[in-house]
Formats: sequence, structure tokens, C-alpha cells
Amino acid sequence: MTTTLVVLAHPEGRSFNGSWANATVKACRAAGDRVLVSDLTAMGFDAVERAAHYPSLPPAARFDPLKAQEAAHVPPADIAAEIIRLEQADRVIFHFPIWWFSPPAVLKGWLDRVLQHGRIHTVDERFDRGKFKGKRALICATAGASQAECAHNGKEGDIRMQLWPLAQTLRYLGFDVIEPRVAFGVHGYHEGDDKSALEARLARTLSDQAAVLRDFDTLPLWPFNTDADFDANGQLKPDAPSHSPFIRHTP
Ligand SMILES: Cc1cc2nc3c(=O)[nH]c(=O)nc-3n(C[C@H](O)[C@H](O)[C@H](O)COP(=O)(O)O)c2cc1C
Repeated sequence: MTTTLVVLAHPEGRSFNGSWANATVKACRAAGDRVLVSDLTAMGFDAVERAAHYPSLPPAARFDPLKAQEAAHVPPADIAAEIIRLEQADRVIFHFPIWWFSPPAVLKGWLDRVLQHGRIHTVDERFDRGKFKGKRALICATAGASQAECAHNGKEGDIRMQLWPLAQTLRYLGFDVIEPRVAFGVHGYHEGDDKSALEARLARTLSDQAAVLRDFDTLPLWPFNTDADFDANGQLKPDAPSHSPFIRHTP
């Protein structure tokens, strides 16, 4: 049986993001899949990594988050539960709005705390050798800005670059990252025809989700460089492709 982890980063279950996450859950259940849901705000997820989460550390010791995570054979209880969900999942699907050109802080904090060094990734287990190799992840995001404004030349900045750090994090863990699904122009200020058009578009996004889940294993992937594309200094080889301005040939 396929297990899907849905990570929702939105403070309101009745938001469009909440509805979209529900559509994912419903589609998974209809397909007979097992679904795990991490509704971060509803859980009161503590997004700030700090020494207090590691009571076994000597009180006056300088807090080194990577070392603390690696030494925590028993991770903090809230994190242990998230790690189990993540490790049990065959698929991970993120639902969140773009807030200030990036995912909401609670999701960044989830990455900071759950992706424990030593357990979820190690120096020897990352990128091509990441622990989640063979598993797929999908980002479902909403933006208040229009698709044109989030294009490569749009005034809000390229949505793919806004999402790239999260996608690269997943790639670092070994996941294959599916091309992101983004609903644009999502906000409550539309009126008249604009409002009706948005509602129709969002309704389609929700009804399409069953097909997204059905086709999950064959949906096109966001391209990333392989380890072999980099030289001994970790720099892109001259003949290797560049898939993102984040890793490019010319400065
Ligand atoms: C704190 C905050 C920051 C936001 N920043 C952006 C942004 O950088 N780019 C953008 O397109 N929309 C931005 N928005 C609009 C949200 O993306 C939009 O409200 C959300 O996608 C709507 O989805 P919802 O109805 O599920 O909340 C922001 C909204 C908030 C509350």
C-alpha cells in the first residue's frame, strides 16, 4: 500500500490551501492509499531549532545544531513523530502559499528541525546518494500574484526560483521532485467576473487533484544536476547542463 505524507503550511483549514490539501487526502484515500497529514499550524509545530529541544546537552555548552541533531539518538518528541511519518512515506506532497517570495516560515522551520543531520541526511548520503532515493515529492503552492508576474521576467520574480530552495532541499535528500503545481492570483480581493473566473479556476485545480495523484509516478520531474555534473571542488563541469540560475555557468 502506498503511503503519502501531506505537509500543510497554512494557518486556516478553510483556506484554498486547506481545500487543496483536503483534495489530495481525499484522492489518496479514494485510491486506497494510506495518508499521513502534518498540518503544521494546527499541530502548533515549533519551527525554531534551539538548544532547549536537546535537554541532554550540557547546559552551558555552545549549541551546534548539526552536532546536536547528530548526537540526538532520541530526537525531540515532536520531531521523532515527524521523522517516522517522513520515513514511512512513499510520496510527500507539500501544500502552502507563497509568503514573501518563499514558503511560510513554519515550513522552513519544519525542514530545519525534521531533516535531522545523522538521521535524515549525512555527508555520505545526500544528492544522488540521498536516503530518499527512488521516492517522489510534489510541491503544490499558491501565489497571490498572477502567472505573468511570476514568470521568468515578471515583477514578482520567477516562481521556480522562489520554490527552488525547497526543491533543492528535497533533491539533497535524494527525492525526485515533480514539476511544481502552482495556483496563481489566489486572493480574496477579486470582484465580479474576476472573482467568478478565479473560483472556476480554483475549482478545476481541486478537481484535477485526483488525476495528479493517479499519474503521480509518471508526472514530469524538475531537472537537477547529478553528482557527476560537478568536479572535485563541487563546481559545475563546463560541459554539464545548467538547469537553474542557482547553478549556472556564467556569473
Ligand atoms: C504574509 C504574506 C505574504 C505574502 N507574500 C506574497 C508573495 O511574496 N507573493 C505572492 O504572490 N503572494 C503573496 N501573498 C499572497 C498569498 O500567496 C495568498 O494570499 C495565498 O496564496 C492565498 O491562498 P489561501 O487563500 O489559501 O490563503 C502573501 C500573503 C501573506 C499573508
